[in-house]
Amino acid sequence: MRIVRTIEELKRWRRSIEDNVGFVPTMGALHEGHLSLVRCSKKENPYTVVSIFVNPTQFDDPEDLRNYPRTLERDIKLLEQEGIDLLFAPSVEEMYPEGFDDSDAHYDFGYLERVLEGAHRPGHFKGVAQIVAKLLRAVEPDVLYLGQKDYQQVLIIKALIRKLNMPVKVVMCPTVREADGLAMSSRNVRLSRQQRESALALYRALMRAKEIYEKGGSVLEAKHEAMKILDNAPLIKKIDYFEIADAETLKPVSDWNEADRVIALVAVRMEGVRLIDNMFIK
Ligand code: PAJ
Repeated sequence: MRIVRTIEELKRWRRSIEDNVGFVPTMGALHEGHLSLVRCSKKENPYTVVSIFVNPTQFDDPEDLRNYPRTLERDIKLLEQEGIDLLFAPSVEEMYPEGFDDSDAHYDFGYLERVLEGAHRPGHFKGVAQIVAKLLRAVEPDVLYLGQKDYQQVLIIKALIRKLNMPVKVVMCPTVREADGLAMSSRNVRLSRQQRESALALYRALMRAKEIYEKGGSVLEAKHEAMKILDNAPLIKKIDYFEIADAETLKPVSDWNEADRVIALVAVRMEGVRLIDNMFIK
């Protein structure tokens, strides 16, 4: 596995490769969720590139950026075991030579960036689009692998790729969960034992909403029942949202028949950690 720190070196490697390249962008602190994307790329492409970069411009909370887990040595070992071809691990100065201003974060995704995560994390998707555009230009992958865990991010990045007219195929891989259902996340290491217990409410609420749909209940009932589960989780301080939406546009639905595919999405705050999850209902 090559470890590359600069865009120039990455591009030099890229020019020597003629076969398909799969790309998995991450912020490190790797877990089975990330590794599932890596395995998917390895299976489908002769070359796989992974990036590790904790992107400052997508953090709306400086505390969250400061506390974001950084485990590069361990991540390198894990990626070596997976047998990837190249790890791109640039410095902040390499990606933002002019200082991390947002002068190139001008992408406008309209409704998609204003709802749900966009509404609760101002500037977050602008920062994601800014770094992903830079990474795509540097790596020039054929296929990009993203996790369903960050469903709204997948829609934003698909829209970004259309705007950039880039010939990149996007593959969304299913959310990898712990045995009890909690979606894997780099931020889970920040949960106390009791918080970890309360965090299960996200999965339970999503499952309950799905169950109500399957039993013929209404959208309103599904939301109500899911909210009850979240409200009763002792260490959830605030429910940012629990929404049932058209999976294509993220516009809320009030009837299951309003969209071909319907998804439930949730975000909550606990002391020191914010958690998100989602599940296709229909
Ligand atoms: P990060 O949170 O490190 O996630 C990297 C990729 O792993 C994303 O596509 C995310 O959806 C996926 N992922 C995370 N947890 C997962 C799980 N439990 N199951 C399946 N996939 C999972 O998302 C980012 O980094 C950044 O925003 C990034 C795209 C790298 C831009 O900075």
